[in-house]
Amino acid sequence: MTVVDLSEYVAEFNADPYAMYAELRAAGPAHQVRTPTGDEVWLIVGHEAARAALADPRLAKDWRPLAETGYAELPASLNMLETDPPQHTRLRKLVAREFTPRRVEALRPRVQEITDGLLDTMLAAPGRAADLVDALAFPLPMTVISELIGVPDLDREAFRTLSNQAVAPLSGDDGPEAVGKIGEYLAELIEDKRCSGPADDLLSALIRTRHEDGDQLSQDELIGMAFLLLVAGHETTVNLISNGVRALLSNPDQLAALRADFDGLIDGAVEEMLRYDGPVETATYRFAREAVRIGDALIPAGASVLVALASAGRDPQRHHDPDRFDIRRSPQSHLAFGHGIHFCLGAPLARMEGRIAVRTLLERAPDLRLDVRTEELQWLPGMLIRGVRHLPVRW
Ligand code: HEM
Repeated sequence: MTVVDLSEYVAEFNADPYAMYAELRAAGPAHQVRTPTGDEVWLIVGHEAARAALADPRLAKDWRPLAETGYAELPASLNMLETDPPQHTRLRKLVAREFTPRRVEALRPRVQEITDGLLDTMLAAPGRAADLVDALAFPLPMTVISELIGVPDLDREAFRTLSNQAVAPLSGDDGPEAVGKIGEYLAELIEDKRCSGPADDLLSALIRTRHEDGDQLSQDELIGMAFLLLVAGHETTVNLISNGVRALLSNPDQLAALRADFDGLIDGAVEEMLRYDGPVETATYRFAREAVRIGDALIPAGASVLVALASAGRDPQRHHDPDRFDIRRSPQSHLAFGHGIHFCLGAPLARMEGRIAVRTLLERAPDLRLDVRTEELQWLPGMLIRGVRHLPVRW
């Protein structure tokens, strides 16, 4: 089977991967590709095959016994997204209760308050223009997740730079270096928390946690948990808001429909944003424990596998007229939050943040429009996160 070299067209592929995904889907559900950063992986592109792969226990998340990566020995990588059962089950259970739809609903007033404050500042900007990423899409989820975890004094700009480097590395060494630095930084924060006595926040609760059998989170597991929640809690939602607002402002009929009926359409609009141009382009790496057949492809034992969620969202066998952005689609479950045991823990929180942010923004800026041409957008590198660095808007 031939290797498809995606590294040949990095810029075009980052700006619009959908045409390439359509070509690959037409040729079969699984392909051997060279990614824009030069890794050779198996890429799963069809909806059905993607859904099956996400729930396939033969495709493991714990890479330690199966692959050599630059992430070896980094405490931050000891987290639920990089482990399999039973370790995964134990780690996820410790935090799952904090993220149920009911618990998340209790955060609604605070999420609205943060959104209102950010929009007060943004809309007072001279020139009636701003970068939506800096003004709203980044600070909203970052503030919410840092307050929830209990690190309100986090140096958000420093964290943002390292976190961007971790999820969208420019070169092979950038990712591990950034993950290492975030780990050191979190180790200090955890030490401060231990010393400052009991507090009513998630990280303090995790430090105190005793699991049923008397087992406590190790220092590395604590770092891994804080790392995953902080990074997953904002890198994704930033791009839900910015990709979603960009889709709406580029489709005036859809924008008008939403403006005419926020109550009836905002939930569907956010689901459509997730399907049409979701923040997570490919799920995180999986590793074949044994040979796995997908369609005509035989993925050999030990191979790395990426599931292209963005491609699954545009699969015509699943979604009618998939390249059309249509906020009134009848609900068809998409894979933007993954599937199976690693299904996004933060989905209820992300949905709530997305709905509040988009609705409040549009209500308060009735003539909001894009202030940038598509060719000028700077796309995040790599295949994990899909989004732009800046989204200039005007009102
Ligand atoms: C629109 C925003 C978001 C999207 C699109 C998203 C997407 C995803 C996806 C696709 C996965 C599975 C990855 C895989 O299987 O390789 C995942 C896992 C996860 N997400 Fe999210 N996420 C979002 C927001 C959040 C937020 C706000 C949090 C904060 C708590 C969060 C926490 C997590 C965690 C902890 C996992 C790992 C779950 C596990 O391994 O059991 N996510 N997310």
